[in-house]
Amino acid sequence: MIRINENYTKLKASYLFSDIAKRVNAYVTANPNQPVIRLGIGDVTEPLPAACVEALHAGADEMAKRASFKGYGPEQGYAFLREAIAQNEYASRGCKIDADEIFVSDGAKCDCGNIQEIFATDVRLAIPDPVYPVYVDTNVMAGRTGPSADGRYQGVTYLESTPANGYVPSVPSVATDLIYLCFPNNPTGAVATKAQLSEWVAYAKKNKAVILFDSAYEAFIRDPNIPHSIYEIEGARDVAIEFRSFSKTAGFTGTRCAYTVIPKSVVAYDAAGNAHPLHALWNRRHTTKFNGVAYPIQKAAAAIYTDAGKQQTKALIDFYLGNAKLIRAAMTKLGFTCMGGDNAPYIWVNTGRDSWEFFDLLLNKAQVVCTPGAGFGKCGEGHVRISAFNSRENVETALNRIAAALK
Ligand code: MLT
Repeated sequence: MIRINENYTKLKASYLFSDIAKRVNAYVTANPNQPVIRLGIGDVTEPLPAACVEALHAGADEMAKRASFKGYGPEQGYAFLREAIAQNEYASRGCKIDADEIFVSDGAKCDCGNIQEIFATDVRLAIPDPVYPVYVDTNVMAGRTGPSADGRYQGVTYLESTPANGYVPSVPSVATDLIYLCFPNNPTGAVATKAQLSEWVAYAKKNKAVILFDSAYEAFIRDPNIPHSIYEIEGARDVAIEFRSFSKTAGFTGTRCAYTVIPKSVVAYDAAGNAHPLHALWNRRHTTKFNGVAYPIQKAAAAIYTDAGKQQTKALIDFYLGNAKLIRAAMTKLGFTCMGGDNAPYIWVNTGRDSWEFFDLLLNKAQVVCTPGAGFGKCGEGHVRISAFNSRENVETALNRIAAALK
């Protein structure tokens, strides 16, 4: 008799954003004449930067000629892209990351979700609350947690992000092994200082733990004192893996390209206490289960590091940050306390009421989609997340509609 992985039965019936999409589609079907504005899922709306489009076309043309045609590429990514990332994202910030410590992939969501495979099933997890649901759900699927009770999975140390700590959790008092951190944060938009991240690196060293640092939103940082990478913190090369993505940086949500950095000095241990470099384990996993990102897509990604590409991606992010500023100002004016939006594309609004109720109110009365905070965890209750990814016109219309609905 074939049997299922029963860990899946511990999960909520559907993934948060699928759940929201279902509710929104039901509303749209019932109200076809009420145009809905989507500020829920963080999906970009603006076209790819021109430099990326040109490179994409040129890459496609190369595939059309025998002399430049490419079949399978290196699973870890082409050297031209890995070298451009190492130089522009890391060397330029004083971080020592070699090109061969970078693994190019088709998405940070996949990488964040898959990375747990290389760790033992009984490692102790530290996961923020609220949190991007992928970190939790993939560990539930792998059997690293007990069942869920009262919005919490047994066996997880939750790192609570609340108004009291400015939505940046401190290190826990107990030892843990695998720590998920995300800054600029999804969903709260909070950023962490060097001092705060140093505390985490010291904690990981003390506990022989590993930090999984998701910095998919680093390009939105405008405050020069905020670190973009965990590797700006001394010692992080020994204890941290970093996830990055071109999705939000350069509008690649539908194009798909990201990367994961695993310094060769990061280790985890076998049952006998022997250290094993995680770079080798991930390389083994990646080469077995992944065949690389399409060549024209990698050419398009590398184009963001040209002079024109740098200017265009900065302009793109400045545009979304302009939306974020408007959203934060409008919600503040309506009397809500907000976090995020200045170094992040998300505004975390403390509504002080049930978050699904507030979601329904905005959908039904303003035809605006946000994300209910409770979907990100227990500490998300009482909040909603508003995304700045949309056209200026839609953001302005949405804010006018919200103001009218909340009058
Ligand atoms: C979000 O809305 O949280 C993100 O778009 C999800 C993702 O990047 O996978």
